[in-house]
Amino acid sequence: MLKISTETLRLGVNIDHVATVRNARGGVCPDPLRAALLAEAAGADGITAHLREDRRHITDRDIDALMNGLNVPLNFEMAATKEMQEIALRYVPNAVCIVPEKREERTTEGGLEIAREENKIGDFIAPLREAGCRVSIFIAADQRQIESAARIGAPVIELHTGAYCDANAEGRFEDRNIELLRLQKMSNFANSLGLEVHAGHGLTFDCVKPIAVIPQVMELNIGHFLIGESIFIGLEGAIKKMRNLMNEARS
Ligand code: PXP
Repeated sequence: MLKISTETLRLGVNIDHVATVRNARGGVCPDPLRAALLAEAAGADGITAHLREDRRHITDRDIDALMNGLNVPLNFEMAATKEMQEIALRYVPNAVCIVPEKREERTTEGGLEIAREENKIGDFIAPLREAGCRVSIFIAADQRQIESAARIGAPVIELHTGAYCDANAEGRFEDRNIELLRLQKMSNFANSLGLEVHAGHGLTFDCVKPIAVIPQVMELNIGHFLIGESIFIGLEGAIKKMRNLMNEARS
């Protein structure tokens, strides 16, 4: 069984929605790299950015700027397509997270279905791993998906926390508790298979602590809420507050 690290829980700040605001008008403001550097200074351990097929927020130029300008690792989120694989192999970011992508969705709605496409995803991630990217797979907290991730040799999984966060936000506390229990159990199960566990999607000040306290979870990736909250308390303030809540949960 893998040792559970006592290191501080890492925070990856997703800056996609800085680009969403910029793209609403075209032009260059607000600049995602500037936000990423501010996030670094406020305590982010890494920056996450999702280059979507339709480039609805982050663009190729943003990835180039982030790769050249960041001092912390970039977690490059991408769909399992040839185009994205080529981009990842050109830049070799520290981490690559494989996510499902549907053009019509507003955000990444569920985890990647790898159990049915094990060989395909296994072949897809092999060159990325060989190039030196730490590959994670974004999946639901589901035993079959976790077993598949382990079989294809992914070193990391990221568990989708969206159902838990939605239930919390909508006051469906019984559902929230069921989802939380599932995330706890599956983090433990993944850890027992030797996988590093990350989590993310939909996390807010209100619901982060029960996830941060799960001992096997090593990293949280948080975006939309932090960028929204920065309207009220600034990006630095939002990140520092999130970091404090995570630290409190962990201490
Ligand atoms: N992790 C993954 C794999 C994601 O796709 C996303 C959303 O892009 C996040 C974390 C962050 O979710 P949110 O923006 O809701 O915090």
